[in-house]
Amino acid sequence: MFIIKLGGSVITDKTKKQTFKQTTTDRLSMEIKKANKEIIIVHGAGSFGHIPAKEYKIDEGYKDLNQIKGFSVTHEMVQTLNSLVLRSLHEHGIPGVSISPHSTVKLDNHEIAKMDFQVFKEYLEKKFVPVTFGDVVLDKKIGFSICSGDLLMDALAGYFKPEKAVFVIDEDGLYTSNPKIDENAEFIESTTLDKLEKLTVQDDKHVDVTGGMAGKIKAIKNILNHGVDVVLVNGNKPGRLYNVLVGEDTVCTILYGR
Ligand code: IPE
Repeated sequence: MFIIKLGGSVITDKTKKQTFKQTTTDRLSMEIKKANKEIIIVHGAGSFGHIPAKEYKIDEGYKDLNQIKGFSVTHEMVQTLNSLVLRSLHEHGIPGVSISPHSTVKLDNHEIAKMDFQVFKEYLEKKFVPVTFGDVVLDKKIGFSICSGDLLMDALAGYFKPEKAVFVIDEDGLYTSNPKIDENAEFIESTTLDKLEKLTVQDDKHVDVTGGMAGKIKAIKNILNHGVDVVLVNGNKPGRLYNVLVGEDTVCTILYGR
Protein backbone atom coordinates (compact mmCIF):
# COMPACT_ATOMS: atom_id res chain seq x y z
CA MET A 1 0.00 0.00 0.00
CA PHE A 2 1.05 3.58 -0.67
CA ILE A 3 -0.06 6.74 1.09
CA ILE A 4 0.25 9.69 -1.26
CA LYS A 5 0.11 13.36 -0.36
CA LEU A 6 -0.71 15.66 -3.25
CA GLY A 7 0.85 18.91 -2.06
CA GLY A 8 -1.20 22.08 -2.15
CA SER A 9 1.45 23.78 -4.27
CA VAL A 10 1.07 21.09 -6.94
CA ILE A 11 -2.73 20.95 -7.18
CA THR A 12 -3.31 24.69 -6.70
CA ASP A 13 -1.55 27.93 -7.47
CA LYS A 14 -0.56 28.94 -3.95
CA THR A 15 -0.22 32.61 -4.87
CA LYS A 16 -3.74 33.03 -6.22
CA LYS A 17 -6.90 32.51 -4.19
CA GLN A 18 -8.77 29.31 -5.09
CA THR A 19 -6.89 28.39 -8.23
CA PHE A 20 -7.14 24.70 -8.94
CA LYS A 21 -4.57 23.14 -11.25
CA GLN A 22 -6.94 20.91 -13.19
CA THR A 23 -4.47 19.69 -15.84
CA THR A 24 -1.80 18.72 -13.31
CA THR A 25 -4.31 17.02 -11.02
CA ASP A 26 -5.84 15.12 -13.95
CA ARG A 27 -2.42 13.88 -15.03
CA LEU A 28 -1.60 12.78 -11.47
CA SER A 29 -4.97 10.99 -11.28
CA MET A 30 -4.07 9.21 -14.50
CA GLU A 31 -0.67 8.16 -13.18
CA ILE A 32 -2.22 6.84 -9.96
CA LYS A 33 -4.85 4.89 -11.91
CA LYS A 34 -2.26 3.41 -14.27
CA ALA A 35 -0.05 2.26 -11.37
CA ASN A 36 -3.02 0.29 -10.00
CA LYS A 37 -1.92 0.09 -6.33
CA GLU A 38 -3.82 0.07 -3.06
CA ILE A 39 -3.67 3.70 -1.94
CA ILE A 40 -4.83 6.35 0.47
CA ILE A 41 -4.73 9.91 -0.83
CA VAL A 42 -4.10 12.97 1.32
CA HIS A 43 -4.13 16.40 -0.26
CA GLY A 44 -3.02 19.82 0.87
CA ALA A 45 -5.15 22.93 0.99
CA GLY A 46 -3.01 25.24 -1.14
CA SER A 47 -4.53 28.60 -1.91
CA PHE A 48 -7.99 27.32 -0.96
CA GLY A 49 -7.07 26.87 2.71
CA HIS A 50 -3.95 28.79 3.59
CA ILE A 51 -5.27 32.20 2.61
CA PRO A 52 -8.46 32.26 4.78
CA ALA A 53 -6.76 30.25 7.58
CA LYS A 54 -4.06 32.91 7.81
CA GLU A 55 -6.51 35.78 7.59
CA TYR A 56 -8.50 34.48 10.57
CA LYS A 57 -5.47 33.13 12.49
CA ILE A 58 -7.09 29.72 12.79
CA ASP A 59 -3.81 28.02 13.75
CA GLU A 60 -3.55 30.21 16.86
CA GLY A 61 -6.68 28.62 18.32
CA TYR A 62 -9.92 30.19 19.45
CA LYS A 63 -9.51 33.81 20.49
CA ASP A 64 -12.53 35.71 19.27
CA LEU A 65 -15.95 35.24 17.74
CA ASN A 66 -14.86 36.46 14.30
CA GLN A 67 -12.74 33.32 13.91
CA ILE A 68 -15.87 31.18 14.00
CA LYS A 69 -16.76 32.60 10.61
CA GLY A 70 -13.14 32.11 9.48
CA PHE A 71 -13.16 28.47 10.56
CA SER A 72 -16.31 27.68 8.62
CA VAL A 73 -15.20 29.68 5.56
CA THR A 74 -11.85 27.86 5.53
CA HIS A 75 -13.62 24.55 5.91
CA GLU A 76 -15.92 25.33 3.00
CA MET A 77 -12.90 26.25 0.85
CA VAL A 78 -10.95 23.06 1.54
CA GLN A 79 -14.12 21.04 1.02
CA THR A 80 -14.52 22.74 -2.37
CA LEU A 81 -10.95 21.80 -3.30
CA ASN A 82 -11.63 18.27 -2.05
CA SER A 83 -14.63 18.01 -4.39
CA LEU A 84 -12.46 19.11 -7.33
CA VAL A 85 -9.84 16.47 -6.47
CA LEU A 86 -12.52 13.81 -6.03
CA ARG A 87 -14.06 14.65 -9.39
CA SER A 88 -10.67 14.40 -11.09
CA LEU A 89 -10.11 11.00 -9.47
CA HIS A 90 -13.57 9.76 -10.46
CA GLU A 91 -13.16 10.93 -14.03
CA HIS A 92 -10.01 8.83 -14.22
CA GLY A 93 -11.61 5.71 -12.81
CA ILE A 94 -10.48 6.00 -9.18
CA PRO A 95 -13.30 5.36 -6.64
CA GLY A 96 -12.33 8.07 -4.16
CA VAL A 97 -14.38 8.71 -1.02
CA SER A 98 -13.85 11.77 1.09
CA ILE A 99 -13.03 11.48 4.81
CA SER A 100 -13.16 14.95 6.37
CA PRO A 101 -10.71 15.54 9.23
CA HIS A 102 -12.96 18.15 10.86
CA SER A 103 -15.40 15.40 11.85
CA THR A 104 -13.04 12.42 12.28
CA VAL A 105 -9.90 13.90 13.86
CA LYS A 106 -9.40 15.51 17.27
CA LEU A 107 -6.34 17.64 17.95
CA ASP A 108 -4.68 18.39 21.27
CA ASN A 109 -2.42 21.43 21.09
CA HIS A 110 -1.76 21.01 17.34
CA GLU A 111 -1.08 17.27 17.59
CA ILE A 112 -3.47 14.51 16.50
CA ALA A 113 -5.01 13.08 19.68
CA LYS A 114 -7.68 10.93 18.03
CA MET A 115 -8.34 9.77 14.51
CA ASP A 116 -10.88 7.34 13.05
CA PHE A 117 -8.58 4.86 11.27
CA GLN A 118 -11.34 2.26 11.17
CA VAL A 119 -13.27 4.18 8.54
CA PHE A 120 -10.18 4.21 6.27
CA LYS A 121 -9.77 0.47 6.85
CA GLU A 122 -13.36 -0.35 5.98
CA TYR A 123 -13.29 1.68 2.76
CA LEU A 124 -9.99 0.08 1.75
CA GLU A 125 -11.44 -3.39 2.36
CA LYS A 126 -14.30 -2.51 0.02
CA LYS A 127 -11.77 -1.33 -2.63
CA PHE A 128 -12.51 2.36 -2.30
CA VAL A 129 -9.72 4.93 -2.27
CA PRO A 130 -9.99 7.01 0.92
CA VAL A 131 -9.23 10.68 0.32
CA THR A 132 -8.49 13.03 3.20
CA PHE A 133 -7.04 16.54 3.31
CA GLY A 134 -5.58 19.41 5.32
CA ASP A 135 -8.55 20.88 7.21
CA VAL A 136 -9.66 22.99 10.16
CA VAL A 137 -10.22 20.75 13.20
CA LEU A 138 -11.38 21.04 16.83
CA ASP A 139 -8.51 21.15 19.32
CA LYS A 140 -8.96 20.02 22.95
CA LYS A 141 -6.45 22.51 24.30
CA ILE A 142 -6.85 25.60 22.12
CA GLY A 143 -10.40 25.24 20.82
CA PHE A 144 -9.57 24.65 17.17
CA SER A 145 -6.60 24.65 14.87
CA ILE A 146 -5.28 23.40 11.53
CA CYS A 147 -4.66 19.76 10.81
CA SER A 148 -2.20 19.74 7.91
CA GLY A 149 -1.93 17.02 5.33
CA ASP A 150 1.56 16.33 6.67
CA LEU A 151 0.17 15.56 10.15
CA LEU A 152 -2.34 13.21 8.51
CA MET A 153 0.47 11.51 6.55
CA ASP A 154 2.34 10.89 9.81
CA ALA A 155 -0.72 9.45 11.58
CA LEU A 156 -1.79 7.27 8.63
CA ALA A 157 1.74 5.98 8.02
CA GLY A 158 2.03 5.05 11.70
CA TYR A 159 -1.22 3.10 11.57
CA PHE A 160 -1.11 1.46 8.12
CA LYS A 161 2.68 1.06 7.74
CA PRO A 162 2.52 1.47 3.92
CA GLU A 163 5.26 0.36 1.54
CA LYS A 164 6.02 4.04 1.04
CA ALA A 165 4.70 7.44 2.08
CA VAL A 166 4.93 9.59 -1.04
CA PHE A 167 4.99 13.39 -0.92
CA VAL A 168 4.17 14.90 -4.30
CA ILE A 169 5.75 18.34 -4.24
CA ASP A 170 6.77 21.11 -6.64
CA GLU A 171 10.51 20.43 -6.37
CA ASP A 172 12.57 17.44 -7.48
CA GLY A 173 13.18 16.41 -3.86
CA LEU A 174 15.52 17.30 -1.03
CA TYR A 175 18.73 19.33 -1.33
CA THR A 176 21.60 19.95 1.08
CA SER A 177 20.60 23.61 1.08
CA ASN A 178 18.12 25.85 -0.69
CA PRO A 179 18.85 25.51 -4.42
CA LYS A 180 17.05 28.78 -5.08
CA ILE A 181 19.62 30.76 -3.12
CA ASP A 182 22.66 28.47 -2.93
CA GLU A 183 24.35 27.46 -6.16
CA ASN A 184 26.32 24.77 -4.29
CA ALA A 185 23.14 23.02 -3.19
CA GLU A 186 23.41 19.32 -3.85
CA PHE A 187 20.50 17.10 -4.71
CA ILE A 188 19.98 14.23 -2.26
CA GLU A 189 18.93 11.05 -4.08
CA SER A 190 18.59 8.97 -0.96
CA THR A 191 19.25 9.32 2.73
CA THR A 192 18.40 7.94 6.16
CA LEU A 193 16.95 9.44 9.30
CA ASP A 194 20.39 9.63 10.93
CA LYS A 195 21.80 11.63 8.05
CA LEU A 196 18.73 13.85 7.99
CA GLU A 197 19.19 14.55 11.73
CA LYS A 198 22.84 15.48 11.09
CA LEU A 199 21.92 17.86 8.32
CA THR A 200 19.44 19.52 10.64
CA VAL A 201 21.99 19.85 13.43
CA GLN A 202 24.55 21.37 11.11
CA ASP A 203 22.30 23.99 9.70
CA ASP A 204 18.72 24.09 10.69
CA LYS A 205 17.80 26.88 8.31
CA HIS A 206 19.02 25.09 5.26
CA VAL A 207 18.26 21.47 5.74
CA ASP A 208 14.99 21.53 3.95
CA VAL A 209 15.62 23.81 1.14
CA THR A 210 12.58 24.00 -0.98
CA GLY A 211 9.90 26.51 -0.19
CA GLY A 212 7.45 24.81 2.12
CA MET A 213 9.76 21.97 3.02
CA ALA A 214 10.61 23.12 6.55
CA GLY A 215 7.33 22.05 8.13
CA LYS A 216 7.46 18.74 6.34
CA ILE A 217 10.70 17.66 7.95
CA LYS A 218 9.11 16.94 11.34
CA ALA A 219 6.37 14.79 9.80
CA ILE A 220 8.93 13.02 7.62
CA LYS A 221 11.12 12.20 10.63
CA ASN A 222 8.13 10.75 12.45
CA ILE A 223 7.21 8.64 9.44
CA LEU A 224 10.78 7.31 9.16
CA ASN A 225 10.61 6.49 12.86
CA HIS A 226 7.50 4.39 12.14
CA GLY A 227 9.83 2.32 9.93
CA VAL A 228 8.21 3.59 6.73
CA ASP A 229 10.20 4.81 3.69
CA VAL A 230 9.39 8.30 2.44
CA VAL A 231 9.66 9.51 -1.15
CA LEU A 232 9.64 13.14 -2.28
CA VAL A 233 8.78 13.48 -5.95
CA ASN A 234 8.05 16.35 -8.32
CA GLY A 235 4.38 16.31 -9.34
CA ASN A 236 4.95 18.78 -12.15
CA LYS A 237 7.12 16.34 -14.07
CA PRO A 238 5.02 13.82 -16.01
CA GLY A 239 5.58 10.17 -15.19
CA ARG A 240 7.61 10.52 -12.03
CA LEU A 241 4.81 9.68 -9.57
CA TYR A 242 3.89 6.67 -11.73
CA ASN A 243 7.53 5.52 -11.73
CA VAL A 244 7.73 5.80 -7.94
CA LEU A 245 4.52 3.78 -7.52
CA VAL A 246 5.62 0.97 -9.82
CA GLY A 247 9.21 0.94 -8.58
CA GLU A 248 10.89 2.28 -11.72
CA ASP A 249 13.96 4.50 -11.47
CA THR A 250 13.12 8.20 -11.55
CA VAL A 251 14.30 11.56 -10.22
CA CYS A 252 13.19 11.73 -6.57
CA THR A 253 14.53 11.63 -3.02
CA ILE A 254 14.11 8.41 -1.06
CA LEU A 255 14.43 8.49 2.71
CA TYR A 256 14.77 5.08 4.29
CA GLY A 257 12.75 4.37 7.44
CA ARG A 258 14.22 2.43 10.32
C1 IPE B 1 -3.30 23.02 5.31
O1 IPE B 1 -2.95 21.76 4.84
C2 IPE B 1 -4.74 23.02 5.80
C3 IPE B 1 -5.37 24.36 5.90
C4 IPE B 1 -4.80 25.50 5.65
C5 IPE B 1 -6.78 24.38 6.32
P1 IPE B 1 -1.51 21.48 4.22
O2 IPE B 1 -0.48 22.21 5.03
O3 IPE B 1 -1.33 20.02 4.11
O4 IPE B 1 -1.59 22.13 2.77
P2 IPE B 1 -0.44 22.42 1.73
O5 IPE B 1 0.01 21.14 1.12
O6 IPE B 1 0.69 23.10 2.48
O7 IPE B 1 -1.10 23.34 0.75
